[in-house]
Amino acid sequence: MRKQALIIDCDPGVDDAVGLQLALAAPELEVLAITTVGGNVPVAKTSRNARIVRQVAGREDVPVFAGAARPLVRAPAGAGEFHGAEGLGDIRPFEPDAPLDGDDAVEAIIDIVRSRPAGSVAAAVMGPMTNLALAIRKAPDIAGRLGPVAVMGGARAEGGNITASAEFNVWADPDAAAEVFHSGAKVVAFGLDATHQVRATEERIARIEAIGGAAAAMAASTLRFSQRIEREIVGWDAAPLHDPCTVAWLMRPELFRLRPCRIEVETGSDLTRGHTAVEFRVDAAEAPHLWAVAADGEGVFDLIAETLKAAA
Ligand code: BDR
Ligand code: CA
Repeated sequence: MRKQALIIDCDPGVDDAVGLQLALAAPELEVLAITTVGGNVPVAKTSRNARIVRQVAGREDVPVFAGAARPLVRAPAGAGEFHGAEGLGDIRPFEPDAPLDGDDAVEAIIDIVRSRPAGSVAAAVMGPMTNLALAIRKAPDIAGRLGPVAVMGGARAEGGNITASAEFNVWADPDAAAEVFHSGAKVVAFGLDATHQVRATEERIARIEAIGGAAAAMAASTLRFSQRIEREIVGWDAAPLHDPCTVAWLMRPELFRLRPCRIEVETGSDLTRGHTAVEFRVDAAEAPHLWAVAADGEGVFDLIAETLKAAA
């Protein structure tokens, strides 16, 4: 089987942790590097958390590079209320055995993409798009060299989760998102319209809990945390599972329905900061982006459960 090579850019983050565990266990994927960004919690914590996740997965062979501490122009935000003050929910953080492999995620992204055949390295972006925007600023050729860039970000029909119309990752660094969408990179966006269709129901969480093994236990713990927090803060019975959609699509594209489009990000107004204007009235053959309009939630959870079980 030809493995899909990819870089995962993330801000773990409880749902990032599930996405990382899925990718690190997937026989279909070759994770070349994990890069981190300040987002849900500050970058020192997301970098530590990424190293914790890879250690729990038994994948210290995958390098972790720390990236941007703050958005391109805005003040850093955070989402600790949805991820816990340390970022991994109920999981008590510890200092991982293996140190960071470098503190220049931007350079690492450029080096990796340039060192591999054009089109062969995909990206799964699970946090604010600051690192990718900086990498493309420094090395514009990588936008065209990258394979699909699966980003978790944005909202259209579903409305926002941080303001009326903005989703957190795009809202946190709208300027970076705008640059990435304009870069020529083949962006496939998994916004709230799709991720809200992937819900961690009681039955689905119980299935992951029943698997056993450290990676599945970590995934189950973060899902339980999200279940509790979403019930408390939002009033939803089953929390949406955002970031793993990027990885799930790279593994099983048939789990999602995509539509060609052009995506623009609102950066000029405080009221609509980070709003994604997703325009479907485009020539499909020329459309620069794809937008996920539907997701098979049961299929995504089947994939997570099967993958973690096979690796346990
Ligand atoms: C996104 O925001 C973060 O809090 C999550 O990790 C996810 O990447 C959802 O809006
Ligand atoms: Ca995230």
